[in-house]
Amino acid sequence: MNYTSLMKEKLDHELFRHCLGTAKAAAELAERYDEDSEKAYLAGIVHDYAKSLSGRELLEVADQMQLPLDSITRQQHKLLHAPVGAVLLEKELGISDPEILKAVAFHTTGHDRMSTFEKVLYLADYIEENRQFEGVEKIRKAAEKDLELALLAAIDMAIQSILDRGLMLHPNSVAFRNSLLKKLAAENKL
Ligand SMILES: [Fe+2]
Ligand SMILES: [Fe+2]
Repeated sequence: MNYTSLMKEKLDHELFRHCLGTAKAAAELAERYDEDSEKAYLAGIVHDYAKSLSGRELLEVADQMQLPLDSITRQQHKLLHAPVGAVLLEKELGISDPEILKAVAFHTTGHDRMSTFEKVLYLADYIEENRQFEGVEKIRKAAEKDLELALLAAIDMAIQSILDRGLMLHPNSVAFRNSLLKKLAAENKL
């Protein structure tokens, strides 16, 4: 199946462009950090598969598929597209690779035991070439040298923006950040 043309059909222009950028960034990061770059490209292309669904549609799918969802994820549709996307990728596109599905399911919050592959997708989503927020260039530079240092900068900004907007912070994001701090401290990188 050609996932790129499938996503082009499914998503609006801007979201498709973001997915292409994420795929490209994921493949580059995978190359640098010894992960399967073809697989990372695929994860990047499909990671926002469910993003164009409305909050209600996302909840409907989640309930239909009996996805165990915590109350924060239920209420914040921005978070829901990740776990729902993962189940739809399996159901509708037949993608069964557990690494891809897990990376997609956690690409919004992260969690405390992120694999390198999951980290690659998380970071790629954040720094792909179409992202233009203040500070992105600094994270891109960091990503050339150290995956976890770049991720720490990214998750700090992501958490800050959640606080600035008065939204609920998902505990997985805190756990992800703490795990990065622990790893970096153990490696004397802080
Ligand atoms: Fe997303
Ligand atoms: Fe995304």
